[in-house]
Amino acid sequence: MSIELFRQGNHACYVFSDLVRGDEGVQANQFLIVDGGDSALIDPGGALLYTPLSIALSAHVQPRDLTWILASHQDPDVIGSVDSWLLYSGARIVCSRLWGRFIPHGVPHYQKDAGRERYLLLEDEGGRIPLGGGHVEAVPAHFLHSVGNFQFHDAASRILFSGDLGASMMPAGTPYAPVEDFDAHLPRMAAFHRRYMASNRACRWWARRARQLDLAMIVPQHGLPIAGAAHIARFIDWIEQLECGVDLLPGAAGT
Ligand SMILES: [Fe+2]
Ligand SMILES: [Fe+2]
Repeated sequence: MSIELFRQGNHACYVFSDLVRGDEGVQANQFLIVDGGDSALIDPGGALLYTPLSIALSAHVQPRDLTWILASHQDPDVIGSVDSWLLYSGARIVCSRLWGRFIPHGVPHYQKDAGRERYLLLEDEGGRIPLGGGHVEAVPAHFLHSVGNFQFHDAASRILFSGDLGASMMPAGTPYAPVEDFDAHLPRMAAFHRRYMASNRACRWWARRARQLDLAMIVPQHGLPIAGAAHIARFIDWIEQLECGVDLLPGAAGT
């Protein structure tokens, strides 16, 4: 049900990659970081996923004991089940302050214990989210895919949980393993990034920031992880030069 991405002492990272298949909705990965008694669930998804994910999660942490739910942005496949997580877990939701007034639209008004105290709203510059003996860094990726867009960098594992950036559309049943042939992988990413990323200016802004991070692996919400210095460098270079979003509007500069 889950694959261990990293373990050192009492710090571990897991991916759930097979709970939603392409025929129901786009394939999506959910991630869990556990550090001692603390835990963070990243981009848990919508109603489609709540029950299977809560069952799979309980092999590592009981849902009621979750510390944080980290939302990279506002989309349904990221945080559509916020009402269930607020009801059945004790977690606080971490998201951009820009989405702090919109995500609660998924929560019935009569639901108790679901108010502002259940949210940690990130300012644009991001910041550190304490977890066990360390922290997870909220890394700004604004406008790339969402106006209030964050990625999450786990200092202990050096994994960047990149949300939709790096997403790849893989055939159903593809094993979850790092990309081996980057050139062959590019067409699996290209169409998605051209439409779902905002502009090359946002890509370049992100690339500059990403090169400052200590990265062992980039794990997107859809598709396969990108691991190792050579492939990570190629991915950042590719994003940096990508024309996408409004760049491709007819009549826009460069078209
Ligand atoms: Fe998205
Ligand atoms: Fe997504």
